[in-house]
Amino acid sequence: MYSLKSLFTILFFPFLLLSISAHSYTHRARAPCKEMIFFFHDIVYNGENYKNATSAIVGAPEWGNRTIMSSPNNFGDMIVFDDPITLDNNLHSPPIGRAQGMYFYDQKDTFSSWLGFSFVFNNTDYKGSLNFAGHDPLMNKTRDISVIGGTGDFFMTRGIATLSTDAFEGSVYFRLRVHVKLYECWKLL
Ligand SMILES: *[C@@H]1O[C@H](CO)[C@@H](O)[C@H](O)[C@H]1NC(C)=O
Ligand SMILES: *[C@@H]1O[C@H](CO)[C@@H](O)[C@H](O)[C@H]1NC(C)=O
Ligand SMILES: *[C@@H]1O[C@H](CO)[C@@H](O)[C@H](O)[C@H]1NC(C)=O
Ligand SMILES: *[C@@H]1O[C@H](CO)[C@@H](O)[C@H](O)[C@H]1NC(C)=O
Repeated sequence: MYSLKSLFTILFFPFLLLSISAHSYTHRARAPCKEMIFFFHDIVYNGENYKNATSAIVGAPEWGNRTIMSSPNNFGDMIVFDDPITLDNNLHSPPIGRAQGMYFYDQKDTFSSWLGFSFVFNNTDYKGSLNFAGHDPLMNKTRDISVIGGTGDFFMTRGIATLSTDAFEGSVYFRLRVHVKLYECWKLL
């Protein structure tokens, strides 16, 4: 027969352990181990700019189409992109990599999207990739998305990227400023 006390211990000991270990996983925010600023340029296909376009609507709701963003608020449109990345805000600066991935508009009553993409680098400064994902309430001046990993120079990294819309021209062109703050940096030995 278990005593009431030992029964209590048996039942609650795992939770006690869990709460201790959960506590030990709380890290204090440190300074980033690496910070970088990039711009990328998205030119959406609009039926007339095939040569110049760097992205395309690949899915649209039943009431829309893949040439013009859907109404209201582009809701339901999914876009695939292969955008040049530059170090300054000039579309014509030499690209240092490509931003490749997708975004879709996932809120009906305002402009809001979800981003999932990689920065792909292959130059003298950076080799490898950075992977991003997150909620992008694009009417906000700045919004944070997650840097969920990387390869090459960015092996196993994690952090936060602060996005801001640096330019916006109708539904065809926009430019995002990406302030990457990595809080976990690794080096392969
Ligand atoms: C391509 O599109 C961008 C953004 O709309 C524009 O600034 C640029 O002049 C275009 N280039 C050509 C060659 O049409
Ligand atoms: C796409 O939708 C827009 C806006 O509703 C319309 O003006 C355009 O003609 C449509 N294009 C095609 C190819 O259906
Ligand atoms: C990176 O660039 C070099 C030199 O142009 C090329 O040999 C190599 O295949 C490229 N690597 C990737 C992953 O694209
Ligand atoms: C976006 O902006 C709104 C209004 O300023 C604010 O309430 C909200 O917290 C912001 N959201 C994010 C994710 O920054």
